[in-house]
Amino acid sequence: MPALVLLGAQWGDEGKGKATDLLGGSVDYVVRYQGGNNAGHTVVVGDQKYALHLLPSGILSPGCTPVIGNGVVVDPSVLLSELSGLNERGVDTSKLLISGNAHVITPYNVTVDKVTERFLGKRKIGTTGRGIGPTYADKINRVGIRVQDLYDESILTQKVEAALDVKNQILTKLYNRRAIAVGQVVEELLGYAEQIRPYVADTVLILNQALDENKVVLFEGGQGTLLDIDHGTYPFVTSSNPTAGGACTGSGVGPTKISRVIGILKAYTTRVGSGPFPTELFDEDGEALRRIGGERGVTTGRDRRCGWFDAVIARYATRVNGLTDFFLTKLDVLTGWEQIPVCVAYEIDGKRVEELPYSQTDFHHAKPVYEYLPGWQENISKAKTFSDLPKNAQAYVKALEEMSGAPISAIGVGPGRDETIEINSFL
Ligand code: GDP
Ligand code: IMO
Ligand code: MG
Repeated sequence: MPALVLLGAQWGDEGKGKATDLLGGSVDYVVRYQGGNNAGHTVVVGDQKYALHLLPSGILSPGCTPVIGNGVVVDPSVLLSELSGLNERGVDTSKLLISGNAHVITPYNVTVDKVTERFLGKRKIGTTGRGIGPTYADKINRVGIRVQDLYDESILTQKVEAALDVKNQILTKLYNRRAIAVGQVVEELLGYAEQIRPYVADTVLILNQALDENKVVLFEGGQGTLLDIDHGTYPFVTSSNPTAGGACTGSGVGPTKISRVIGILKAYTTRVGSGPFPTELFDEDGEALRRIGGERGVTTGRDRRCGWFDAVIARYATRVNGLTDFFLTKLDVLTGWEQIPVCVAYEIDGKRVEELPYSQTDFHHAKPVYEYLPGWQENISKAKTFSDLPKNAQAYVKALEEMSGAPISAIGVGPGRDETIEINSFL
């Protein structure tokens, strides 16, 4: 069981942080492979709550080496403040490894993210404003700054010049903003360089050597399948590949090394930012899910949009990721409903559709077809085994499993590490 991928099966915030933390004690490496500090992963250990943005959740497991892979975009100021925040709370962060090939989120990328969103007006994506899209755009345009560039002032200066050449024209002429000075950016980035240096490593070599030695590597996705730049609800997506293939490109580990792909799946659905969401609720049920589930963004503090479980999306996630298992989270949040609607298909322009339509227009027109499953009233947060769950909760899980196309191997019944029912072991 050398390499496992754990990723979001919906639109993010499924509980990836908790699931990673649960496995963190039994794996040797936890690797972030894409995204950056747009992520907000909450981990609850005993009475301590941690909100991680850029660092892999494995940083909280002492025996585990946390890795920021080449596919991640790194904001050095966020990295250093997250590290010092953890150090102040007694967490040892000295094992962290950062790929020298990871791209750097520069201050101008953050500026461009914000002004672009403002310029889009009501067509905005609702980004986290952390510079994620513009940094990946620079990477693809081959004008990106990589972590290794921080250690050669002359190269760094040339690269920042190249990146700002066009951007300053756009900022001043199109957006009516002040130009950004090359020297100021270079100076700021060089200011971070020495503090980051101890962590910078050839992570591709290290991870592959570890796998050769039968060490266990866990890849922790940020965001989720429907936010994937290729497979998500484009253009209302993030700018990276949270789907399983991203774990390979974002780490330099080949697909033959991956034996298990676990989709983290919330027992209902949430979404942050703009874009279509067929089962979204605008009534008191939506309000109740938000309140009971604490559905407020960890990164931006925005209220999350809430809706019922969507099996069409779960099936799609199984397919595009080759999921071997699901980890169903937040089942406890559904306690108290008389009956629980589950979307089993869509109706699009009068026709029943069982699978996610590839056409954006069709998806915008998709209306949920619901089946109504009986609810339960008992508190389930102390359940330790599947048979501890009330019959209707068991039936809800079994129905979701049947519709979603992969076994549900664990169930979350609360935010804490222990509040989990393990059905099939992941390791
Ligand atoms: P991530 O981005 O996928 O790591 O998820 P977030 O941390 O943004 O959001 C998930 C939220 O649900 C966090 O506040 C978790 O502490 C919480 N959580 C995770 N699993 C469960 C669960 O099974 N039950 C409950 N009630 N909360 C959970
Ligand atoms: P975790 O890892 C939920 C959303 C933003 C926006 C879109 C693009 O905690 O699940 P970006 O800043 O990435 O360019 O924004 O993606 N988004 C998330 N939504 N959870 C996240 O991360 C997200 N990261 C980005 O709200 O709609
Ligand atoms: Mg989150």
